[in-house]
Amino acid sequence: MKHEIVEKNVGLLAVLILVVISFGGLAEVVPLMFQKKTNDPVEGLEPLSALQLAGRGIYRREGCVGCHSQMIRPFRAETERYGHYSVAGESVYNHNFLWGSKRTGPDLARVGGRYSDDWHRAHMYNPRDVVPESIMPAYPWLFENVMDGDDIAKKMRVLRTLGVPYTDEQIDGAKTEVKGETEITALVAYLQQLGTVLKDAR
Ligand code: HEC
Repeated sequence: MKHEIVEKNVGLLAVLILVVISFGGLAEVVPLMFQKKTNDPVEGLEPLSALQLAGRGIYRREGCVGCHSQMIRPFRAETERYGHYSVAGESVYNHNFLWGSKRTGPDLARVGGRYSDDWHRAHMYNPRDVVPESIMPAYPWLFENVMDGDDIAKKMRVLRTLGVPYTDEQIDGAKTEVKGETEITALVAYLQQLGTVLKDAR
């Protein structure tokens, strides 16, 4: 029996298993690359401003993604706590993704507008001042570090080659927008826009 040949030959079995699994994988992945729903930005989505983009860099540098996800799953327990579940069209301008998978702290996908700028600043300076039981680290250096904005235009140009629709005007004005600002200002600007495009679509 042919079946017996396959079962008795481990090498052949392994190769055939790989073939079967890749077909399954392709059938799931390939259609996503061509679907409008997963490739087109949701209505009203704007690329991050230069200051927000600088804030995103700080979010990445400080490893916030190690404790915070930005991905609300379509389950009732999640949507009641965090708001509308995350959709692919909200992330199309993000390179790289910061969806994360670890939730030592709450999901941040829709934290924009939930607190005031002052709350965020106090929280980042020392989380215990506003949430006494918090185990989040303090980030006091963000209040001292002043940005020079030297590389921000370059970053925006790279993002444009990846399909983020920055205009020449935005890129030309980028350095002036960032230069002289503290890192905390950029980080809070980044946090305050998170998930706001779909905020009301409950
Ligand atoms: C060691 C894990 C850890 C790291 C790293 C961390 N956080 Fe947190 N974060 C928490 C925890 C736990 C909470 C919940 C308690 C609190 O509000 O302080 C929290 C809460 C928050 C909240 C409030 C969310 C809400 O909905 O109430 C924000 C905003 C936040 N973190 C932003 C950040 C940012 C920005 C960074 C990176 C600069 C960061 N966190 C790094 C653990 C962490």
